[in-house]
Amino acid sequence: MKSYNIALIPADGIGPQVVEAAWAVLSKVAGQSGFGLSATRFPWSCAYYKENGRMMPADGIETLRSFDAILLGSVGWPAEVPDSVSLHGLLLTIRKAFDQYANVRPHRLLPGVDGPLKATEFDILCIRENTEGEYSGAGGRVHQGTPAEVVVETSIFTRRGVERILRYGFEQARRRRGRLASVTKSNAQRHSMVFWDEVTRELAAEYGDVAVTSYHVDALAARMIMAPESLDVIVASNLFGDILTDMGAAIQGGLGFAASANISPDRSLPSMFEPVHGSAPDIAHLDVANPIATIWSAAMMLEHLGEKQAADRVMAAIATATAKDIGIRPGKDKTSVITAAVLEALD
Ligand code: NAD
Ligand code: IPM
Ligand code: MN
Repeated sequence: MKSYNIALIPADGIGPQVVEAAWAVLSKVAGQSGFGLSATRFPWSCAYYKENGRMMPADGIETLRSFDAILLGSVGWPAEVPDSVSLHGLLLTIRKAFDQYANVRPHRLLPGVDGPLKATEFDILCIRENTEGEYSGAGGRVHQGTPAEVVVETSIFTRRGVERILRYGFEQARRRRGRLASVTKSNAQRHSMVFWDEVTRELAAEYGDVAVTSYHVDALAARMIMAPESLDVIVASNLFGDILTDMGAAIQGGLGFAASANISPDRSLPSMFEPVHGSAPDIAHLDVANPIATIWSAAMMLEHLGEKQAADRVMAAIATATAKDIGIRPGKDKTSVITAAVLEALD
């Protein structure tokens, strides 16, 4: 029997609730589909940091390397550990260490879920660059606390990085409806973003079958609200993609619905699957977190592992559950009730 080893990193806040919900669904669908899934849980989190002075052990990356995939909940407990410490110490380290350059985030409405827009027909795939750009971490601070203080945060865009993420977008567009929106702010940022537009044009010549449009990120943000049905694949830099995908989550009905995959180009390295949302400290001690985003991310993991039929079964079960009148109203319905509805729909 085929079997996969999955690293679970539930981490902080609602992370453990939504990861256990997704794991219950994964275990059930694996049993039904005839492949094995084994979980190894890692307690790496802000609580771990408070005990050990680091978010994960020094050999944490080495430990994760041999897994088939990673399912992560959410990192961050800003009341006790600064976000700049916790996120760089775990989530962002993993993305970079395994070169998970493509952050893939689908946005569409599930049956029975009301978004805030009139449009119900949109189906957007946002591809976010995930290893460089505005998240490069290059910069510094001088004359701290004085009137002469200067702080620099440098974005780094490499030809390799920009070309490969755009290529990923073109390939996805080719498999979908053939339209690609390339996002920049090249009217204001005249180095990196002009470069991004140039690489977009170079690749467009190679992908004659894809209709590509370059948008400024501000205009694209408006378009996502006003005419989301006009969009197919979006490719954006790390920071722009981060912001646009919380917007994508909003038009899906809320952060509890938005899934993501962090894909490594090297099949021998683990890719990571996680909801778009964070640890939601405001609802962390309640049983109201929507687990759909994480269950959907788990379906993306199954597809990545080559278990497409099982992934489709999970997506169908999610749709059956949301179409039911349990309503899925984040903040109102219980995590446990929503999870039970998905599990029941798998039968
Ligand atoms: P957040 O996504 O945690 O929460 C924003 C709002 O959405 C909150 O009102 C929250 O209750 C709601 N929400 C989020 N997920 C939900 C769900 N599944 N069901 C129902 N409601 C949900 O964003 P934030 O408040 O900016 O960040 C909180 C912490 O999480 C911070 O430490 C932040 O850095 C971290 N964070 C981590 C990740 C990650 O691990 N990938 C992502 C985003 C934020
Ligand atoms: C996300 C999150 C992270 C990001 C933060 C927590 C560093 O917002 O996965 O969208 O910006 O990548
Ligand atoms: Mn984000």
